[in-house]
Order: sequence, then C-alpha cells, then structure tokens
Amino acid sequence: MRNPSTMQFYDTPISIMDVNLEENTIKVAIDVKGIKTKNINKLKEDDKVLVRAPFWNGVFGLKNIYMAREGTSLVLARGIGMAPMVPVLKKLYANGNKIIAIIDKTPYENIFIDKYLKMYDAKIIELNTIQNGKLTDEVKEQLVKLTQEENVNILHCAGPDILIYNIEKFMGGKVKLSCCNNAKMCCGEGVCGSCSTRYKGHVVKRLCKVQTDPSNIFEGRRLI
Ligand code: FES
Repeated sequence: MRNPSTMQFYDTPISIMDVNLEENTIKVAIDVKGIKTKNINKLKEDDKVLVRAPFWNGVFGLKNIYMAREGTSLVLARGIGMAPMVPVLKKLYANGNKIIAIIDKTPYENIFIDKYLKMYDAKIIELNTIQNGKLTDEVKEQLVKLTQEENVNILHCAGPDILIYNIEKFMGGKVKLSCCNNAKMCCGEGVCGSCSTRYKGHVVKRLCKVQTDPSNIFEGRRLI
C-alpha cells in the first residue's frame, strides 16, 4: 500500500485482514511505526490509496489448513499477528471446525479482532505468550492441556518468527502446524530477492514463492 500524495517510491507490505467480494472492499490493520506507515496513516476517509496486490503466500502450511475439517483447531496470535490470522479463522470455521484462540494482545490494549473471534464462534484464551525470547509457562501449560483434552487438527501461529520457532520446537511434531509468513516482501514474484533467507549448504529460499510446512522454515536456517 502507498499514500499516493507523498513523495515516496516504496510500497509498504501490509497483510489483508478481511475481504468483502460483494462490496469490493479490503480491510487491513496497520501498526504505525516508520515513515511509510506514518504516511499511510495521514490518509483521510475517501482519500485514494495505492494498492498493488495480491502477493499471495502470506501463510505457510496451507495444505494443513485445507485438510483441517470438522474438528478442533487452535489458533495462536500475538500483537499485529492478529490481523493476518483472520482469513485463517474464516477458512477453519467454514470447514466446520470448533476454534480455540490463544491471544496475546501485547503491545495493544485491546483484542482488535474481537468482532471476528465472535463471528467465528471462537473460544478466547488471553495470555502472555513470550518473555525474553522464551515461551511463558502459561502458554506451555495451555498448549499441553488443550492438546490432551481436544482432538486438535491444526495449530496456526501468527506472530513474530521467534514465537513461531519456539512453538514449533515445543510441539515437537505432535500436531499439524501452519503459520504466518514474516518475510520482508517487495516484488512478491521471486525476482527482487528481498525475501531471500539463507539455509545450510548455501541454500537460498525465496519465501514469497516457497509453500511449505512451518517446520521447514526454521530447519537449517542460518541466523547470521
Ligand atoms: S519478494 Fe521479491 S523475491 Fe520474494
């Protein structure tokens, strides 16, 4: 997205929160942080906004989401990750799943997707998910309890990579996973390289194009 009235050349990658094909509208949630998001935030109602889309591949583990049917699905989100979780909620609900949502609203005061959680009949568990780079005891306890009590068909995680990485390690392959794609995208076409991530053996993956299970995203990834 871009504010067309500012002298700026770069678009800001923003996740789509909701789409209404009948009204021809999209909804987004923007965390106003840097100069680009501040410029978008200057827009008033009825102003024009430039949108280049769609970019696809915002979620890893799509196959697991499509296969989760008529069961219990866990979704877990932290902060702005709540926004890209909404389309996943919609799909899981449409597939006849009961949804349990673990929400860490940090750094916001409210759960801004409250309306969607109600719409998709999700049971909400609010807690802190991560502290000093480690999963909190409360989220670990909830995950253990829920996977013992419920027949969980998927755990979807929408938050920073450190959270997804820790959840994936903690679950140890016990449930199927999906997660949001946090790669910095620019072209979305596998051309510019801004989403390139380095793996062992000099392997480079362009995360705007690779569709894979979340366990493959961190395995062998070089952090430096
Ligand atoms: S965003 Fe340009 S190569 Fe992936």
